[in-house]
Amino acid sequence: MKKGKFISFEGVEGSGKSTQMKLAIKFLEKKGFPVVFVYEPGSTAIGEEIRKVLLDPAYKKIDNYCELFLFIASRAQLIKQTIEPELAKGKIVVSDRFTDATICYQGYGSGLDIDFIKRVNSFAKLKPDLTILLDINAVKGLQRVKQKDRIEQKCLAYHQRVREGYLKLTAEEPERIKIVEAEGVKETAEKIRKLLERFLGLQPML
Ligand code: TMP
Repeated sequence: MKKGKFISFEGVEGSGKSTQMKLAIKFLEKKGFPVVFVYEPGSTAIGEEIRKVLLDPAYKKIDNYCELFLFIASRAQLIKQTIEPELAKGKIVVSDRFTDATICYQGYGSGLDIDFIKRVNSFAKLKPDLTILLDINAVKGLQRVKQKDRIEQKCLAYHQRVREGYLKLTAEEPERIKIVEAEGVKETAEKIRKLLERFLGLQPML
């Protein structure tokens, strides 16, 4: 039984997701919520092994389906091992990426059939209650990434398709996915804080 809340953060490379998630978690903890942070792929011992394979630039020739199912495999372990048990305890689980990333990267980015990915994703039987999409122009985002992993090394057109994918998903599910323009750290954090306050029914801070 899910008692907690599940919040995911999404965005193209270089959108400042990590910084913003840290600030959001700090805010939630200050408000007294018990928070568990996870990220994909990874966060479990098995998931970390899968992450190494997925992001290693040595495996440029990875097949699209092999890549897809490795992301799914990491997610399956994470859901069973961490996300479901923590939600059952009433925690707020904050995840750095979830099923939307698979639709946008493996679907819109790599060209795998979107409906097929949605069907594969459905094994999770879990959707974020709230998704915060940090949006940034793909050129600007990629410029911010210093040491690029295998996926970050993909061409600009790929990352532009990923961004378009996120924007399409946002249009399909505006209630769940909230878009935040990734600008300055402070302004962006402020917008996210407001979204969290609204989502959790908190009194807005003055
Ligand atoms: P990150 O730690 O930079 O977010 O690394 C994860 C990378 O994996 C990022 O480039 C997005 C990508 N990714 C997918 O392609 N599909 C997925 O389903 C997930 C969760 C991530």
